[in-house]
Amino acid sequence: MAKDDIIHPQAQGEEQQLDDQIRPQRLEDFPGQEPLKEKLRIAIEAAKHRNEPLDHTLLSGPPGLGKTTLARILANEMGVDIKQTSGPVIERQADLSAILTSLELHDVLFIDEIHRLNHAVEETLYSAMEDFEVDIMLGKGPTARSMKIGLKPFTLIGATTRSGMLTPPLRARFGDTCRFDFYSPAELKIILLRSARIMDVSVDDEGALEIASRSRGTARVANRLLRRVRDFAQVKGDGVITREMAEGALKLLRIDALGLDDMDRQIVMTIIEKFNGGPVGLSSMAVAVGEERQTLEEVHEPYLIQLGFLKRTPQGRVATHLAYRHFGLRAPQTGEPELF
Ligand SMILES: Nc1ncnc2c1ncn2[C@@H]1O[C@H](COP(=O)(O)OP(=O)(O)OP(=O)(O)O)[C@@H](O)[C@H]1O
Ligand SMILES: [Mg+2]
Repeated sequence: MAKDDIIHPQAQGEEQQLDDQIRPQRLEDFPGQEPLKEKLRIAIEAAKHRNEPLDHTLLSGPPGLGKTTLARILANEMGVDIKQTSGPVIERQADLSAILTSLELHDVLFIDEIHRLNHAVEETLYSAMEDFEVDIMLGKGPTARSMKIGLKPFTLIGATTRSGMLTPPLRARFGDTCRFDFYSPAELKIILLRSARIMDVSVDDEGALEIASRSRGTARVANRLLRRVRDFAQVKGDGVITREMAEGALKLLRIDALGLDDMDRQIVMTIIEKFNGGPVGLSSMAVAVGEERQTLEEVHEPYLIQLGFLKRTPQGRVATHLAYRHFGLRAPQTGEPELF
């Protein structure tokens, strides 16, 4: 991934620090994801009322929508500490046991990229989640024996961009699953106005909506575009982000009115021109456009699918009639009904 890859929803470099400044701390400061928040509000209140930890919760959805942010908010709302780690970082069972035994009553353990836990570690997690117990190995070699240790009841919050890759036994141990949706432009506008206030940037309503509509439904992309448009407005204007400023900056960044960048356009045009509209397999596509499979799958495709430009079929990716129309092309006659 190029470092200045604008639309990439993963945090880049110094962005992490800025992320922390603008991250909402409470549920009421977290715009969007309404059905999910409503459910969590009730869960939090009920758990507090019963004086129990929150149920183990799985947060799933594309990158940059606020999974990490929400995990921290949940701990805040419960008034407990949060320990954060990630699937690939926990290499041995003993590493996980050490973290688990350090948790205080009702604390949150947040495991990012939980679909990437190795098998042995994952098995340790089963009894920890279900019975609040872990097996600890004492000694080494033939005299080694295992001992069960009780844990203080805690909440596991797992985050994943690939919920399909979670094993059924792990999935079954979560009491609650929260699927994040892409944000609407109206929601992203609220997020942007809030970030602008914290960053002390002036932006008018139309300017914020213009950025919001081109942020691919993703909070992190919206915040990133806000910073880039701010720079542009400082140099080319008087620092205020208006619709004209937003349009000018985004044109320079080669992001179109729908938020598509060069790679998105290349993907759709490749399917249409080189593969006759599809179906085309992910690997062939990755080679044809010169991008990694994972980036195509996690970054570009979800948004193209959300727009209705792309369809995943068992045979491969297919460009829809809507995509042909958007690029001013005529769809081939397949004899099949129009998908869109
Ligand atoms: N609902 C929201 N309101 C305001 N800001 C948000 C919201 N959701 C996310 N953000 C901001 O977007 C950025 C990315 O959020 P976060 O790191 O929580 O995403 P994520 O889903 O964990 O992404 P990843 O999958 O890459 O870990 C943060 O700067 C956060 O402040
Ligand atoms: Mg995250």
